[in-house]
Amino acid sequence: MRKEQIIRETEQYVKSILERDSSGHDWWHIDRVRRLGCQLAQQEGANVFVVEMAALLHDVADEKIVGSEEIGMRLVREWLARFPMGTEERESVIEAISTVSYKGGNGKPPRTLEGKVVQDADRLDAIGAIGIARAFMYAGHRGHLMYDPALSVRETMTKEEYRHGPSTAIHHFYEKLLKLKDLLHTESAKMLAVRRHQFMEQFLRQFYQEWNGNVDPSDFT
Ligand code: ADP
Ligand code: NI
Repeated sequence: MRKEQIIRETEQYVKSILERDSSGHDWWHIDRVRRLGCQLAQQEGANVFVVEMAALLHDVADEKIVGSEEIGMRLVREWLARFPMGTEERESVIEAISTVSYKGGNGKPPRTLEGKVVQDADRLDAIGAIGIARAFMYAGHRGHLMYDPALSVRETMTKEEYRHGPSTAIHHFYEKLLKLKDLLHTESAKMLAVRRHQFMEQFLRQFYQEWNGNVDPSDFT
């Protein structure tokens, strides 16, 4: 079986699972991470097939989506077992997927170049214009406020606090999004993060200006 066919079948499988997700993990997130991942893999000399497969499957293994990490990893293993692939290649895909998630900064770091590339691609999709949009989608999905100035920013959190503690979309920038550029592994991803990071900072400045009703008299002229 050709690699392209394995990819096409995996796309269909992932689409069928994530199609109706409205928490920021829809099919188009997967597609962006896959495309970014393949480009990073080329730049970094990583195995493009392993990266593409791991990117496609990374959220199937997400506990938020399938209930638990164990169930998720089992689904991934069962899916990969359907295809003729070397054991080493299959294990590399599983290894890369197992370390993707952020978990409030409590996840294990990736051990392989492919794992680093997939995590970087997933993190790039959490910053910049797309990252901003996803944070507000997620906050709406969880019933969080857009912003609450009375709530303090949590500096350190356990995985449980990260998932369930009180937060707002704006707080999420300080609790995660603004930290991501310094947590990237590959040089190529770090370069792509620069503009995305600046865009978030600019967004926050404008957000507070509008929130506080600060009007510059020159705006009336
Ligand atoms: P991870 O799996 O890496 O921990 P998530 O899957 O929780 O990340 O995040 C999915 C998307 O939702 C990301 O874009 C993330 O920034 C956003 N998100 C996660 N938690 C929050 C939150 N408390 N408020 C706003 N956005 C969030
Ligand atoms: Ni993801």
